[in-house]
Amino acid sequence: MIESSENGVRPASEADLEAINKIRAQLRLTAIGLEDLSSEGRTTFVSTQSGAVIGYATVRFPASRHQLQYAEVEQLFVSCDIQRTGVGTALLQRAQRFACAETTATHLYLRVAEEFEKAQRCYIKFGFKITGREGQGVLMTKPIREHESDA
Ligand SMILES: CC(C)(COP(=O)(O)OP(=O)(O)OC[C@H]1O[C@@H](n2cnc3c(N)ncnc32)[C@H](O)[C@@H]1OP(=O)(O)O)[C@@H](O)C(=O)NCCC(=O)NCCS
Repeated sequence: MIESSENGVRPASEADLEAINKIRAQLRLTAIGLEDLSSEGRTTFVSTQSGAVIGYATVRFPASRHQLQYAEVEQLFVSCDIQRTGVGTALLQRAQRFACAETTATHLYLRVAEEFEKAQRCYIKFGFKITGREGQGVLMTKPIREHESDA
């Protein structure tokens, strides 16, 4: 959580928790705590517009990040009124760059609920493919080392 802002996306700080929970409330999601943003291998990035947080993404790496094949995008949410303006894609790009720089992972992966079709479209457009199913969830993966310059 020490890098500077880049394209409106910057590492989250503790002070962003309230804004993140406002976005979650808008989306009818339960509030989370700081541990959901930064504990157990998690790093969170926020996207801002005129200083206000408009979206966030959390990437999670296990402790063995230097023997890792898959880095997880654990959360990705964008404020309702700003959706479909490229914020989610910018956060995914930052998550991908971070995973490339900080781990040996060759792929990103994520789990998304079956009914979140718009989210799946976003991920597919970014290069994810459906690689499995787990209960009501869809597992998606994306290779991240082949075209690092695109990220
Ligand atoms: C899913 C989500 C993270 C995407 O972020 P976003 O900023 O809206 O996405 P982008 O603007 O980067 O859009 C990228 C692509 O996703 C798809 N997409 C995004 N929103 C869409 C919508 N409402 N309808 C159809 N396709 C959509 C499109 O393919 C879009 O590309 P295009 O606009 O060039 O066609 C965001 O919409 C969101 O938070 N949704 C509600 C919660 C959710 O479903 N979260 C995922 C849980 S895992």
